[in-house]
Amino acid sequence: MGLNVNLAGLELSNPVIPASGTFGFGYEFAELYDINILGSIALKGTTLAPRFGNPTPRIAECTSGMINSVGLQNPGIDAVISEEIPKLARFYTKPVIANISGFSQDEYVTCCQKANAVKEIGAVELNISCPNVHNGGMSFGTSADCAFELTKAVKKVLSKPLFVKLSPNVTDIASIAKACEEAGADGISLINTLLGMRIDLKTRKPVIANKKGGFSGPAIFPVALRMVYEVYEAVKIPIIGMGGVTSARDVIEMMLAGANAVQVGAANLIDPYACRDIIYSLPEEMEKLGIKNITDIIGGAH
Ligand SMILES: Cc1cc2nc3c(=O)[nH]c(=O)nc-3n(C[C@H](O)[C@H](O)[C@H](O)COP(=O)(O)O)c2cc1C
Repeated sequence: MGLNVNLAGLELSNPVIPASGTFGFGYEFAELYDINILGSIALKGTTLAPRFGNPTPRIAECTSGMINSVGLQNPGIDAVISEEIPKLARFYTKPVIANISGFSQDEYVTCCQKANAVKEIGAVELNISCPNVHNGGMSFGTSADCAFELTKAVKKVLSKPLFVKLSPNVTDIASIAKACEEAGADGISLINTLLGMRIDLKTRKPVIANKKGGFSGPAIFPVALRMVYEVYEAVKIPIIGMGGVTSARDVIEMMLAGANAVQVGAANLIDPYACRDIIYSLPEEMEKLGIKNITDIIGGAH
């Protein structure tokens, strides 16, 4: 049974990848199981300078999902390269995906330049879709022109594959994916979280200190699937699909919509073994559905 997939030249032994921000820098999970089973790991969102993140509370529970407003808490790219990646390399021997965020084009470019020099990093995922920071993140990803300019600028300093991670908080995600492809992106990651909020009935105030946050988890799966389906019809470059995936059957459905690989996010916060268990159960589900090689089904629903 064939589980391996290819992401713009990056060979993965299976299509399952923990999503950025939901799996730390990976080594935290190494005491639970052998993380080498994972197809790759999307590292925690990284910026040029260290960030403390947003004030708390920054998590709210919802029916079939959660809202987060972590706000890109991270130690900064230099510490990620000198401390976090070497720690992960003790446990994980496959190429990882660096998730890069910024507040200006220069910041994105500098971070990508630094990431490009790191041997453990197999690809860069450009987060132009974070809903939890002001004047950055999502503001680059909600305009096709901004997405085009930024993609073009970072491509100049990257020799590793570039996946641009898109926001679902737009009217036409396919046009933004197309702009990234035209600017030279090697692939598209989608979706980041949907803007949402909760209100505490006792205080009558927003639950999240930052008022709004990003909604993710099983509730968003049909929205993510629809967007992957639309983007598959708009571009020729590979797609990493994500949003609400919790099972091997969801992985298969996402790949039928057009994903070459699949990331698992909020599910890791509910069950730290989620990715491992999805990988374990993939062959059995494939057999039930008569799938020999997982690559045979990519875009099969079109
Ligand atoms: C707690 C939390 C932190 C996240 N941090 C990041 C991040 O740093 N960078 C990023 O690109 N996406 C981040 N995301 C978004 C996820 O990577 C993913 O795109 C989204 O949650 C949808 O997948 P899911 O429904 O499986 O969670 C975060 C999500 C959560 C729940």
